[in-house]
Amino acid sequence: MNIAILGTGGVGAALGGRWGAAGHAVTYGSRTPQSEKVQQLLAKSGPSAAAKSPRESIIGADAILFAVPWPVARETLETLGDLSGRTLIDCTNPLLSDMSGIELGHVISAGEQIAAWSPGANVVKAFNSASVKVMLNPQFGEHRATMFYCGDDAAAKLTVRQLIEEIGFDPVDAGLLRSSRYLEPLAMLYIHLAFRQGFGSNCAFKIMKR
Ligand SMILES: NC(=O)c1ccc[n+]([C@@H]2O[C@H](COP(=O)([O-])OP(=O)(O)OC[C@H]3O[C@@H](n4cnc5c(N)ncnc54)[C@H](OP(=O)(O)O)[C@@H]3O)[C@@H](O)[C@H]2O)c1
Repeated sequence: MNIAILGTGGVGAALGGRWGAAGHAVTYGSRTPQSEKVQQLLAKSGPSAAAKSPRESIIGADAILFAVPWPVARETLETLGDLSGRTLIDCTNPLLSDMSGIELGHVISAGEQIAAWSPGANVVKAFNSASVKVMLNPQFGEHRATMFYCGDDAAAKLTVRQLIEEIGFDPVDAGLLRSSRYLEPLAMLYIHLAFRQGFGSNCAFKIMKR
């Protein structure tokens, strides 16, 4: 698969490295594609890895990971041009700047807002409810960490499910994109547990069923 990754921070680097290692062609969309940081990242992201401007990076991509901070989500989307028909994986959480809470929740969500800002795109919410450490290794003993995802387009969801599964998570379909209203507060619970309740970021959610 050709995967564009917008944002070369913790999440972009972790997932780009893992998908590159799994054999996908990763293209980072960065404000500074020539920087040393991004060039070092390329060396860890598989033989076909490349770095371009955000707008160029998405050309020909089968899936686009949107991994930028929530406050710049809208302006970043506006630089990309027409996204209709594209699979856009939204991992953002609408965090307040001090991480004490979220800006949106329950009656609207970042996932739905991002869909409104990218008309026609097939937005799938995923990778928002685990830390970078867990993205790098979702295996906990014999258990795989759960990764929830949701979206309105069945084909885009299947693509994302595959990308979740390939890097070792247990994918759980949470329904339509409006379920982002639950997945984003869930991420806030994660952050609360990890950073305020002393769990640290080497913990993960696990759904059990019988
Ligand atoms: N960190 C986590 O554990 C985690 C887990 C789940 C979800 N998330 C969510 O995933 C998204 C990315 O998180 P992250 O931790 O990877 O963030 P990060 O480390 O701050 O990186 C974000 C990247 O976005 C790009 N960017 C574009 N415009 C920017 C701007 N004006 N200011 C700063 N960065 C800008 C930058 O890449 P370039 O410099 O290459 O353009 C930057 O490296 C966030 O929405 C976050 O809420 C994070």
